[in-house]
Amino acid sequence: MSSINQKFNQLGVIPVVAIEDAKDAASLGKALNNGGLPCAEVTFRTNAAAESIRTLASQFPNMLVGAGTVLTVEQAQKAIDGGAKFLVTPGFDEEVVAFSLARGMPIYPGVATPTEINMAIKMGLTTLKFFPAEALGGLPTLKAIAGPYTQVRFIPTGGINPQNLPDYLSSPAVVACGGSWLVKKTLIANGDFDTITKLAAEAVQTVQRIRSK
Ligand code: 3PG
Repeated sequence: MSSINQKFNQLGVIPVVAIEDAKDAASLGKALNNGGLPCAEVTFRTNAAAESIRTLASQFPNMLVGAGTVLTVEQAQKAIDGGAKFLVTPGFDEEVVAFSLARGMPIYPGVATPTEINMAIKMGLTTLKFFPAEALGGLPTLKAIAGPYTQVRFIPTGGINPQNLPDYLSSPAVVACGGSWLVKKTLIANGDFDTITKLAAEAVQTVQRIRSK
C-alpha cells in the first residue's frame, strides 16, 4: 500500500471542501487539525482552490492536503505546484491520470462502473473513488461492483454522512470515505470553525469505534 493510501486508511475520512475565499484556508486547516483529522481535499470548484492548497500545504506541513474535482491537466499542475500530495477526480480521465502518474503524484479517479474500474486497473491504479456513492445505490452497489475486483479498494464519496459512515467503514473494500458534511460551505462562510472541529472529532471517533472492532 502506498504511504498516502496508508494515511487514508488510518484517517478513514477525507474532508472534501470548497473554499470560496483563500483567507479561510488557514482557519480551516487549524480546525481540522484540532479535530484530529489533518486532511483536506480542496476542490477546484472555486477559484480559491489553488491558493488555498498552497496555504494549507505550507502552513500545515503534517497535513495531508490534496486537490479534488481536478478536471484538467492545468488544474493538476496548479495543484502539484501548490504542494498537493494527492489528486482526486470525479470521473475517469485518462489524460489527467497519465499526467499525474508521470509526475509521481498519487491520483484517485472517480469510478461508477466496472468498465471504468477496468480502465483504472489498466493504468496501474488499485485505489479508486466511488462516486457518487449514495446516488449509485450506496454500500450494496459498492459491494456488488467491488466483488470481482479483489485487488481494488474504494473511497466512497457523495452523500456520505454521520449516519451512513459506520456502514461504509465496516466494509473491507473501503479505504476511507470522502465527504463534505464536516466542512460545509455555510460553516466556513459563517466562520464556524468550532463546529468543523467538533464534526471532525466526531468523525474520528466513529472511525476508531468501527475500525477497532
Ligand atoms: C465530491 O466532490 O467528491 C462530492 O461532491 C462530495 O460529496 P458530498 O458533498 O455529498 O459529501
